[in-house]
Amino acid sequence: MRQISLTGIKPTGDLHIGNFFGAMRPALQLAESYEARYFIADYHALNSVKDAAELRTHIRAVAAGWLAAGLDPDKVIFYRQSAVPETFELSTLLMAFTAKGLMNRAHAYKASVQANLDKQDDPDSGVNMGLFTYPVLMAADILLFDTDIVPVGKDQVQHVEMAQDIAQAINFNYKAELLRVPQAQMRENFAVIPGLDGRKMSKSYGNTIPLFVPEKQLRKTIMRIVTNSQAVDEVKDPEGCQVFALYTLFATPAEQDSLAARYRAGGMGWGEAKEALFQAVNRELSPLRQRYEAILADPAGLDAILARGALKARAIAGATIGRLRAAIGMD
Ligand code: TRP
Repeated sequence: MRQISLTGIKPTGDLHIGNFFGAMRPALQLAESYEARYFIADYHALNSVKDAAELRTHIRAVAAGWLAAGLDPDKVIFYRQSAVPETFELSTLLMAFTAKGLMNRAHAYKASVQANLDKQDDPDSGVNMGLFTYPVLMAADILLFDTDIVPVGKDQVQHVEMAQDIAQAINFNYKAELLRVPQAQMRENFAVIPGLDGRKMSKSYGNTIPLFVPEKQLRKTIMRIVTNSQAVDEVKDPEGCQVFALYTLFATPAEQDSLAARYRAGGMGWGEAKEALFQAVNRELSPLRQRYEAILADPAGLDAILARGALKARAIAGATIGRLRAAIGMD
């Protein structure tokens, strides 16, 4: 039997090309060698998104984005966390086996506390229990589905380790392999995608190129990429130039060679280099954008896809909960 991989997607912002190359594409490739599960972590988003319309929009946008990027809901299980109530039953059960001290050590919680201390504010100001217990809910997401591997960025590795700790605590207590102990699969061999200002592309830096914006806005965004002040006639270096680095993600090797030659020949201004980048990005993203818009234009169809996924997910989740309830004496 193939191993199981599980990916959680927090619906908190618009997808950008850093997400696409850094997280979505590698996660989607896993569907070829693993039995893959993908879900929208909407209850995790609730910790920070408290506006109903905003949350609803993000959930649909993220779901449509993954489908447009190639997620095949007939080959994988694709669902919303909130449509699988077994998640919350498991989360409550896990609470009883999770040391409070373990949660105190979670990076995200510690960072919030530190930010408060730096402002001489109350340490727990703005920290809700959803944020404090975030790793328990995430452990429930993972452990509910007998997950073998969780593809994650560096920031999420600690959370997977906490899921391991919690699973082991339960297995140890009941002297049985009730929960499969998951492994984090770190995405480290994927290049960092530079943002508009040359730093890593990230929503928190506000330097992103969104995946699904209309053509006009895409061009405008690309024209905002920060370059040095070299004049048109000067010879330029493609190495270390973020316009060129982004170009390599979208252009063919021959196109890359030809743009590199224009850099080195002089006589090419930054506007021209950015136009070449825009053309290459737009060629690649247009079909994606069209699929995305078509999916969003049919919200009932989208909801039906997610509902079918939830049914498949609940069949597995129900079995896990049944096994646990029997083991803990609640059958
Ligand atoms: N915490 C993850 C993030 O912020 C999202 C997430 C929630 C997740 N539950 C998960 C990821 C389970 C992997 C497995 O990106």
